[in-house]
Amino acid sequence: NELYAVVGHPINHSKSPRIHSLFAKQTGEPVEYTAIQAPLEDFVGTVRQFFEAGGKGLNVTVPFKEQAWALADSRTARAEKAGASNTLFQDNQGQLVADNTDGKGLVQDLTANHGVQLNGARVLILGAGGAVRGVLGPILEQHPVSLTIANRTVAKAEALTTLFADDADATALSACGFEAPDQPFDIIINGTSASLQGDLPPLRTSVIGADTVVYDMMYSLQTTTFNQWALDNGAVRVLDGLGMLIEQAAEAFRVWRGVQPNTASVIDALRND
Ligand code: ATR
Repeated sequence: NELYAVVGHPINHSKSPRIHSLFAKQTGEPVEYTAIQAPLEDFVGTVRQFFEAGGKGLNVTVPFKEQAWALADSRTARAEKAGASNTLFQDNQGQLVADNTDGKGLVQDLTANHGVQLNGARVLILGAGGAVRGVLGPILEQHPVSLTIANRTVAKAEALTTLFADDADATALSACGFEAPDQPFDIIINGTSASLQGDLPPLRTSVIGADTVVYDMMYSLQTTTFNQWALDNGAVRVLDGLGMLIEQAAEAFRVWRGVQPNTASVIDALRND
């Protein structure tokens, strides 16, 4: 078997080993996938050791995605723009390549799994940290009619609109604070880490209309704090990030193995764990 792993700190709750072993079983690929907890001060040493021991590919999670990006010898275009990497591998010359499959994962989950079209949509995204930066490129590729980035620290949202101005094309890209938007959006995506502290971004309820789809990039067994807020304020469709997690994994598997796994059965399996 060829060896793959996810590296993070902590790592014990990671679903990636389960997801990738289901992909391996389903496709018959000789993939063995484990979880590695890197010491906070030695991510680089952990990565080097893994590849020196013959490892084929790594997924990278919190808090090492920016370090993975910085460490690589080269980056795919989508990783370059994301400023972070969740997928590492070595090319034929043994050079370390950083990719980022998170944005593809989100777009794939929305469009293919849930039939929610970003194309032509008015989109509101909450947050301006690494998680949001990682998905903006793939969202803009779908050509929403507008993309509003709202964040607690407005300057960080503004910096992202500058960074992605060239990718915006015909999309009206703008930045603001949480309380500014007051019209309904077609799609609202929560990419803040606010719910980790049990907080809610202070949005106006008028951002939710009769057809608004709400997507929380987080997931949990229960409805997330943000999705519960949306439901309480009239949203009819709320989605969580489990599908995104599985789709980013599928894209990494495809990059590493050249084989596209089927995700529907894996989403079902994890939803029922
Ligand atoms: P991540 O990798 O999850 O994006 P990050 O880069 O630290 O982590 O970014 C966290 C995001 O969640 C930021 O947009 C942050 O807002 P600020 O830029 O103003 O710091 C947002 N966030 C974190 N806690 C929040 C809270 N309690 N309320 C609202 N926004 C919060």
